[in-house]
Amino acid sequence: MSVSAGQIPDVPVLQAIGDRRSIRYYDPDKKAEDWQIQTILQAGRLSSCQGNINATEAIVVQKETCDVWDELEECVSGFNVQIMNQSSHIIIWLTNLNAWYGRANDGLSTLALSGALTKYHGWNYEFTMTQTVPRLMSFPTERTEMLLRFESGLAVSQAMLTTQALGLGNILVAFGRKPGGVEKAFGLPPHYKFTWAHAVGVPLEDPKGGGQRPRLKFEKLFHDGAYGKPLMPDPAVNDALREKGMLQEQAPLPGRMEEIDELASKFARDPGVVSWPEKEIKRLIADDDWDFGPRIKERADQVIAEGGLPDYPEEMRETFQKLMEEHGLDTSKYLS
Ligand SMILES: Cc1cc2nc3c(=O)[nH]c(=O)nc-3n(C[C@H](O)[C@H](O)[C@H](O)COP(=O)(O)O)c2cc1C
Repeated sequence: MSVSAGQIPDVPVLQAIGDRRSIRYYDPDKKAEDWQIQTILQAGRLSSCQGNINATEAIVVQKETCDVWDELEECVSGFNVQIMNQSSHIIIWLTNLNAWYGRANDGLSTLALSGALTKYHGWNYEFTMTQTVPRLMSFPTERTEMLLRFESGLAVSQAMLTTQALGLGNILVAFGRKPGGVEKAFGLPPHYKFTWAHAVGVPLEDPKGGGQRPRLKFEKLFHDGAYGKPLMPDPAVNDALREKGMLQEQAPLPGRMEEIDELASKFARDPGVVSWPEKEIKRLIADDDWDFGPRIKERADQVIAEGGLPDYPEEMRETFQKLMEEHGLDTSKYLS
């Protein structure tokens, strides 16, 4: 089915950012429409890319028509199998490393012709061809890969927000169980890197996913001019962002746990959520780095009161300590 402009929802970008959740329950009987998939891919295509080299590509598959579905399913991490099978489409995002080596010259030329690269900023054809492009093309593939994977991430992010704005649900799913398996399934040439799989579909859970998931505090993530100097958010700005729908009620919203159990019973899956040991929950909730609101604190109290929580796997303590120490982390914070 095609679409007219009037049928496409008008969702402001800040609202779409606020509404987005990783959706893990999809209606297996409903499909995203072709025009929606096209719109999502257009969002990826229009995302900013270095030198306009267009390194991000994608293969769109559906379970019913995909010849290599079984091979793909072998690559997906176990906790993603249900998601993969119940979503409507999987977008396999790819990064083409040869775009860097083969398209830098033409990409920059398109920018010049578009009036984007100008003499004002010091661009000059001879310098570009004798210095800039040869320098870029001399990068080892590892460096190119790092640069281009970042760029593919941007494209995917834009595609995800667009999915959200169209009223669909989406999530990125790890396909790490069989490294190289996706490339092999599709017979990709070696310069194509599988970057991430993106499931799209019609949410079966509440599209709000039970509330906005907690993050670290703003001032713990952002620095004001110097590393370690917290950049403090203005509460009045946050209030305005709340009104615009960007900042929303934190998870878990009332009824979320019941919703999870209902969904589980519908598909004959195990009910309930995973829990951490009591001591670990208490340590986390007391951690000042996290922006925890009252709902998640209440939920933590409830989980502890209900009991039946697992024990910390003491046999792993030494491994965790060693791994953290290798990275210079303060183990006393995490392994008291
Ligand atoms: C690169 C990337 C890979 C992810 N892979 C998975 C995954 O394999 N399975 C999954 O359930 N969630 C996956 N997620 C979702 C995150 O766990 C999710 O972002 C987190 O739950 C925060 O929730 P939100 O996205 O709803 O804000 C992934 C997210 C990102 C950015």
